[in-house]
Amino acid sequence: MDFFSPEIRRNPFPVYDRLRAAAPVLYEPNFDAWMIFDYAGAKQALTDHDRFSSSMFTASRGNPDWMIFLDPPRQPKLRGLIGRAFTPKAIAELAPRIRELSRELLGKVGGCGQMDVVREYATPLPMIMIAEMIGVPAAEWPLFRRWSDAILKLSHTISAGASATTAVAEYSLVKTEMGAYARALIEERRTAPRDDLLTRLTQAEVDGERLTEQEILGFVELLIVAGQETTSNLIANAVLCFAENPDQLQRLADSPELMTKAIEEVLRFRSPVQWVFRATRCDVEMHGRTIPAGKLVLPMIGSANRDPQVITEPNEFDIGREPNPHIAFGHGIHFCLGAPLSRLEASIALPDLLARLGRFELAEEQWQPRSALHVHGPDSLTIRL
Ligand code: HEM
Repeated sequence: MDFFSPEIRRNPFPVYDRLRAAAPVLYEPNFDAWMIFDYAGAKQALTDHDRFSSSMFTASRGNPDWMIFLDPPRQPKLRGLIGRAFTPKAIAELAPRIRELSRELLGKVGGCGQMDVVREYATPLPMIMIAEMIGVPAAEWPLFRRWSDAILKLSHTISAGASATTAVAEYSLVKTEMGAYARALIEERRTAPRDDLLTRLTQAEVDGERLTEQEILGFVELLIVAGQETTSNLIANAVLCFAENPDQLQRLADSPELMTKAIEEVLRFRSPVQWVFRATRCDVEMHGRTIPAGKLVLPMIGSANRDPQVITEPNEFDIGREPNPHIAFGHGIHFCLGAPLSRLEASIALPDLLARLGRFELAEEQWQPRSALHVHGPDSLTIRL
């Protein structure tokens, strides 16, 4: 079975259902990895740091120098420092700018009776927000997008082969370019502090310790990719969910107060991040199988979120779902740092976008999946208004 074929990536859920029911822990020989399809198993891999490491070096592979790939004790320390700069207050203050940007983008949607929701709205909105947070001027946004695409393609390294080699080469190139760019910005903030994220990162301090330039660079890289692609897919996936479930769109129109729950349901139903990466530190017994030490493990979030052991009627898209214990943002110490920003963006973007779309339908039957393999969402999505 080719997990990476566009057909399966568009709709992996029936495959997940079959595998979860038959063998929730599966060895994938093509990329020498162990996939975990059930909720309990995936959650265990996310939280049991004694047995599952976030560092890909544990599985004799490499990874960029980012917090997401660190283990305790360094990860909580770094997260504490970054948390000083990336505060809930700083995120909440972005609301007026998100609203302004959303209206600006929708104002440009032409009168030709259709709209590419991804290209015209879901991609630029989170991208511009992150670029502005970092301090990248508008003229350089296309460059910024190229960096993000190159970083995301690193997920191709999982399958080895030619696309992996190209992805690593592209990333090395981009890393040098991005490093020089961000270093100059950091230097600017050190000499002329501003009221922005980058300045706060240079000033953050816990127990007399500050972030090194390397750590700030790593966080900026992580922000560039984690901050735009995921939220962009959340917005586009919401449109997909509503196009496929017009009764739920009507329900939302009748009860707009369901918006917060609807966003959580999109996160569960079409999780933007379908899997994350872990590596076994020792032999691990799970569901009657032994995952040997030093192996790549993929907790399959997109499948866990449809596990009938935990979620009632998991293949129903129900915008009033309660409770909704999805793990789309991960779980435990690596729980998504950007979740509040993403939820804020979606809570402003979706009402705006749905109001603009009115009654709509998909213009094409099949959409092309995003290029990063672990990400779920359309590369473009044309809507007939
Ligand atoms: C719908 C949107 C998003 C989804 C589905 C998502 C998903 C995730 C997941 C699953 C993890 C855990 C990874 C792991 O355990 O290995 C994570 C971590 C992270 N996310 Fe997000 N994310 C989203 C948006 C964002 C945004 C907007 C930002 C930044 C602005 C962001 C920044 C991060 C960071 C920095 C981490 C690492 C946290 C750590 O290692 O302690 N994410 N995200």
